[in-house]
Amino acid sequence: MDSIKNKIIHGNTLDVLRETPSNVFDCGVTSPPYNKQEKNNGWLVKNVVYDKFKDVMSEDEYQQNQIDVLNELYRTTKTGGHFFYNHKIRWDKGKFIHPMEWITKSNWSIRQEIIWDRAIAANIRGWRFWQVEERIYWLYKPDGKNLIGEELKSHHALMTSVWRFSPEQKSPHPAPFPLALPTRCIYSVLDDKKDCLIIDPYVGSGTTLLSAKMLGHNFCGIDISNNYIELANERIKNISSKDKKSFEDEIAKHKVIKTFKDRKNEGMYDKKLKKSSQYDDLFTQQVI
Ligand SMILES: C[S@@+](CC[C@H](N)C(=O)[O-])C[C@H]1O[C@@H](n2cnc3c(N)ncnc32)[C@H](O)[C@@H]1O
Repeated sequence: MDSIKNKIIHGNTLDVLRETPSNVFDCGVTSPPYNKQEKNNGWLVKNVVYDKFKDVMSEDEYQQNQIDVLNELYRTTKTGGHFFYNHKIRWDKGKFIHPMEWITKSNWSIRQEIIWDRAIAANIRGWRFWQVEERIYWLYKPDGKNLIGEELKSHHALMTSVWRFSPEQKSPHPAPFPLALPTRCIYSVLDDKKDCLIIDPYVGSGTTLLSAKMLGHNFCGIDISNNYIELANERIKNISSKDKKSFEDEIAKHKVIKTFKDRKNEGMYDKKLKKSSQYDDLFTQQVI
């Protein structure tokens, strides 16, 4: 365990995970490369060009690789543990590709599909409506026959299944997610637990690992690029005031304004909304 605790390992994710002992992680968050076919200048987002690898595989090879990675993450996660997998709907030569196509072939139990509303995206073309959303799959390793695990504490459960975070800007990494994203994932499922072990198998700029550290946990990361590992280690060691503020802003959202009981008593979600003000009120109770 000491060889992986609070370390970022340089290597290929699948190879490193295959060397990792079983049942060690409590939770994980990641955004893998999306197989964006760099050969065509990157049909997803042409400016996302990674250091040290080309994001191009046949779609079948890519999906099999992701199933293998997800299954290794399942093996290395403790029973009752969680994994948050960020991905998006893609199209290849007009064919619609949904992440569920391969996630459902992995061993994980799917707890929820969360929509990440980024509000903006670089791939603007008129073939479809402007795709500004990505998905976050909350995956769970069941404890025996219990496929759903424990309920979230109420100060997390008032979040909706649509998360609105604008993308991270001004990072030297081409595709980081915002610090609020892994912070929300980890804090919601682990609440005030400390000293857990959090994995990000595609570390990039170290966003997940930084959240883990700020929440009082240990981390383990993997990346194929030494440059990104250096960037992540530096970010975790010297936490910037911008990262501190993003973290605190997210934590402040985990509070109960009105309990489910209050909402129900006020007819906020089980009766017809009679006045438009009631509708507005419902949204002010929701954190997105
Ligand atoms: C989408 S980025 C992750 C960004 C990260 N969430 C952040 O906030 O900065 C994917 C990362 O996976 C790494 N990567 C791609 N293929 C890999 C592989 N086969 N093994 C290990 N790392 C890989 C890339 O170097 C890149 O940093």
